[in-house]
Amino acid sequence: MAKSKVLVVGGTGYIGRRIVKASLAQGHETYVLQRPEIGLDIEKVQMLLSFKKQGARLVEASFSDHRSLVDAVRQVDVVICTMSGVHFRSHNVLVQLKLVEAIKDAGNVKRFLPSEFGMDPARMGHALEPGRVTFDEKMTVRKAIEESKIPFTYVSANCFAGYFAGNLAQMGTLLPPKDKVLIYGDGNVKVVYMDEDDVATYTIKTIDDLRTLNKTVYLRPPENVLSQRELIEKWEKLTGRQLDKSSLSEQDFLSSMKGLDYASQVGVGHFYHIFYEGCLTNFETGQDAEEASQLYPEVNYTRMDEYLKIYA
Ligand SMILES: NC(=O)c1ccc[n+]([C@@H]2O[C@H](COP(=O)([O-])OP(=O)(O)OC[C@H]3O[C@@H](n4cnc5c(N)ncnc54)[C@H](OP(=O)(O)O)[C@@H]3O)[C@@H](O)[C@H]2O)c1
Repeated sequence: MAKSKVLVVGGTGYIGRRIVKASLAQGHETYVLQRPEIGLDIEKVQMLLSFKKQGARLVEASFSDHRSLVDAVRQVDVVICTMSGVHFRSHNVLVQLKLVEAIKDAGNVKRFLPSEFGMDPARMGHALEPGRVTFDEKMTVRKAIEESKIPFTYVSANCFAGYFAGNLAQMGTLLPPKDKVLIYGDGNVKVVYMDEDDVATYTIKTIDDLRTLNKTVYLRPPENVLSQRELIEKWEKLTGRQLDKSSLSEQDFLSSMKGLDYASQVGVGHFYHIFYEGCLTNFETGQDAEEASQLYPEVNYTRMDEYLKIYA
């Protein structure tokens, strides 16, 4: 079977750039949306040009020009959107509704992967305010996709290691603490950590796979299902130094939300669900879902002791 042609929307983003790379590496004809709105953003322009150098095709289109989006998606079989969705960075998840409209009108797209790549929003109906906005918006996009009968795959990628492992799951920093580390509750809740390049590799693996059609694919490689304590132990082993640990109760953690800015409150809510409630691992993957490391055992995913080496 010929490999699908892929359009990445949001290709210069944090996960998007890795998806472009993985798509090229797995031999797909790869198109990347080039938005006129990026204007003088030299970093984005240079990145797009580097994709071109690596063999990608740049496709000009704007979210404010429906026709241009339709023309862009008409050129490919698969559309992967990596629209921003991290509050302290940029979040425009609902902008994707315009892309859904374009895919619907184009009528040729065999698979759409919307910007998900985190917790499964379908399992977050009970999520705390204000962080639930992320899940609510992702569910709004899912509804539009499903009502338009667009074939889809939802990638539930759990914790990107750059945001959650390098800092030993400490908020407000992306680097490991030097002396003291906060433990959420007893620190034994299981969490899934993912190397971002592996997220991209698995994502591209799903696109031509009938087993993942109209399903959620959870990225849950068994050796990366770790508690916070297990993650910290790996770091301590790597550095040969013990950290001073103090535990934070659920109540104290939640009350830390008061007085924080909106983006930080969103973050506290997400951390709460992940590290206290265990929302990434407290369910079986079940019906209409697959687990990526079982589907693709050939992927030698990065273990967290390996990932953490760069921080040592
Ligand atoms: N699981 C985790 O730990 C985790 C961590 C981070 C993110 N995520 C998820 O991953 C997804 C992508 O997040 P990210 O951090 O990679 O995003 P990002 O780097 O902040 O942004 C991705 C892209 O979104 C596009 N974009 C932003 N605003 C736009 C607008 N108004 N109109 C059109 N395009 C716009 C840009 O595309 P151009 O390239 O066209 O400029 C940008 O490069 C989100 O769903 C997020 O929730 C998950």
